[in-house]
This record gives sequence, structure tokens and C-alpha cells, in this order.
Amino acid sequence: MNTLATYDEAIERTLYTAEDIARAIGRLAAEIARDHAGQPLLLLGVLKGALYVAVDLARAIARVPGGPSEIFVDYVCASSYGNATRSSGEVRILKDTSMPVAGQNVVIVEDIVDNGLTLQYLQALLRGRNPAHLRSCVLFNKPYHRLVDVPIEYVGLRSPDEFVVGYGLDYQELFRNLPYLAQLRAQVFSQEG
Ligand code: IMP
Repeated sequence: MNTLATYDEAIERTLYTAEDIARAIGRLAAEIARDHAGQPLLLLGVLKGALYVAVDLARAIARVPGGPSEIFVDYVCASSYGNATRSSGEVRILKDTSMPVAGQNVVIVEDIVDNGLTLQYLQALLRGRNPAHLRSCVLFNKPYHRLVDVPIEYVGLRSPDEFVVGYGLDYQELFRNLPYLAQLRAQVFSQEG
């Protein structure tokens, strides 16, 4: 990254603007609110990638009339082993839930699903704790290299078959704070030693 001094220089193109993302979150919020009308809901964001999705979704659900009776927000912090751009599905839980999952209507909130192994691992882990319902919400779906068939009840936007950054998604811990989804220039990857 040393010759690409600024974020602007590192970015090839914008894939979804902040407005596109806000609209998708509004749609997901309406679907989740409808499915949990009058019931408590536990939104479980997967850090670090779902940092923004989980909070924006929680606030959007609260604005839907006739939605859940109560909305709890919790996080797990998970890290997948793998190389810089592909997960291996071997997941480390760096921070577990702080609320009990048993008997709750849980929606896992993920930033992106690619091969599906990370989400599959989390679903199995949480299912073992006996939630009343377990559903999954993914903002960006990358369906091109799925290795496992994971159920995803709420899908936001389709990501191209590229490594993408922004709105919580990183490349080597950078670019998470971009308010939009972007594709990086090939040089960014080729400069890594
Ligand atoms: P999966 O196990 O291949 O489904 O990958 C899921 C995790 O890999 C996500 O939660 C992200 O942290 C990361 N990931 C997958 N694709 C991308 C991408 O294009 N940009 C940034 N992170 C990604």
C-alpha cells in the first residue's frame, strides 16, 4: 500500500453508494420487523465486519411500525483463518455473546458471505444453544464460490465476484470506515509482500 497514499488512490470504483446501502438496510429492516412483529428480537452482529450493518439495521427496525416488541443488540467477534482475501472456515471466537441465546429469536447479522463457511460455523454454534428461532441476515451476498449451502433468510445486495471493501469490510484492517462499498485497484494486492 506504500505507493497508494490515500484511500482515493486505492479505490478502483464504487459498487454501491451509501444511499444504495441505506435503501437495502431499510428493506431488510422491513422484512425482519414483519417476521418478528410483536415478539422480542435479538440481533447478533458479527464483528468486525458487521459493525455498521448491525447498528443501522437495529435503528431501522425500530422505525418500522408494528415491529418487534423489544430489540436487543449483541455482538460476537469472530475471525476466520485464511489468506488475505479468502476464509478457511476455521473460525476463532474472540468475543462471545454477552446475552443468553436460549429461547431467543435470534437474527445473525453478517457483512458478507462468500464461501459460506464462517456463517455455517456460527449457525451451528448458536443452534447448539437452543434459540427459539435462528435466522441469518447478510448485507452483501457473494454467491459465486459457495462451498456449503447455508440458509440465509434476509439478503441485501449482490456483491460482484471481487474482493470488496467499505461499510465495515476491510482489506488488512483498512477501508472499514468508507461509507460505500468499493472495489480496490489490483495494485493494492500486488504491493503486498
Ligand atoms: P466466508 O467464510 O468465505 O463466507 O467469508 C466470510 C468472511 O470473510 C466475511 O465475514 C468477511 O470478514 C470476509 N470476506 C469475504 N469476502 C470479503 C470481501 O470481499 N471483502 C472483505 N471481507 C470479505
